[in-house]
Amino acid sequence: MSRTHDNESVLSFQNVTLELGDGDSKVRPLDAVNFEIARGEFVGIVGPSGAGKSTLLAVAGALQTPDSGSVRVLDQELTEIAHSQGKMAKFRLRNIGFVFQSGNLIPALTSADQLRLVNKLAGGPSSFDPLPLLDAVGMAHKAKSLPRQLSGGERQRVGIARALVTRPGLLLVDEPTAALDRARSQQIVALLAEQSKTHGVATMMVTHDHEVLGHCDRVLEMVDGKLGAFEPAAA
Ligand SMILES: Nc1ncnc2c1ncn2[C@@H]1O[C@H](COP(=O)(O)OP(=O)(O)OP(=O)(O)O)[C@@H](O)[C@H]1O
Ligand SMILES: [Mg+2]
Repeated sequence: MSRTHDNESVLSFQNVTLELGDGDSKVRPLDAVNFEIARGEFVGIVGPSGAGKSTLLAVAGALQTPDSGSVRVLDQELTEIAHSQGKMAKFRLRNIGFVFQSGNLIPALTSADQLRLVNKLAGGPSSFDPLPLLDAVGMAHKAKSLPRQLSGGERQRVGIARALVTRPGLLLVDEPTAALDRARSQQIVALLAEQSKTHGVATMMVTHDHEVLGHCDRVLEMVDGKLGAFEPAAA
């Protein structure tokens, strides 16, 4: 891989501001936010509750539109397609993967069918085979299991495989280890780091779990809507 390729920017925020609520309850979850994430880079986001971390993911994921500033994902300026829910949804489906706290699997579908559904919705090939991806997250042996037959960590692994079906350039992850014990948390975050490197995915992971930050290439901290470098407090 060439150096320029490695440095290719997948996600870029320039002066992004968003206010929510009105009157006395007005908050500014994003206050002039600037940052970039490159291909294959795994970035952690930490910060107190209510700081704006989930809002940051929603804006990066074309789920929410900021009041001002520029948000670019791959070659697309999101604010240019923000007027069209259809265009936003299509772009999101093809280019952005999401992993949520609990895996967010569909209760009635097997692991393999969770992946097949995403492939179908995204207009992927009818020859799509979910097994290699399930294998990559160590879940091929549970391809026919329903979510209720899986442990929390297993569900989370299927959720990660599902987020990678369309080979998205950008992977957005919100609190992936909140429901997991220590050992499983390390495994899940190591898996995210490995998938980022293997597939050149830019991954942004919000977490409260400082023990998993060692897997990140870089950690940023959100405080009161402002994003900056994370400086861990001395122990
Ligand atoms: N629809 C909304 N209307 C008004 N305020 C909102 C809305 N959604 C979020 N907020 C506020 O925006 C701020 C940022 O919320 P956000 O969910 O991004 O925080 P967070 O950093 O993810 O917190 P946590 O760590 O608890 O998940 C909070 O003050 C929240 O109350
Ligand atoms: Mg949140």
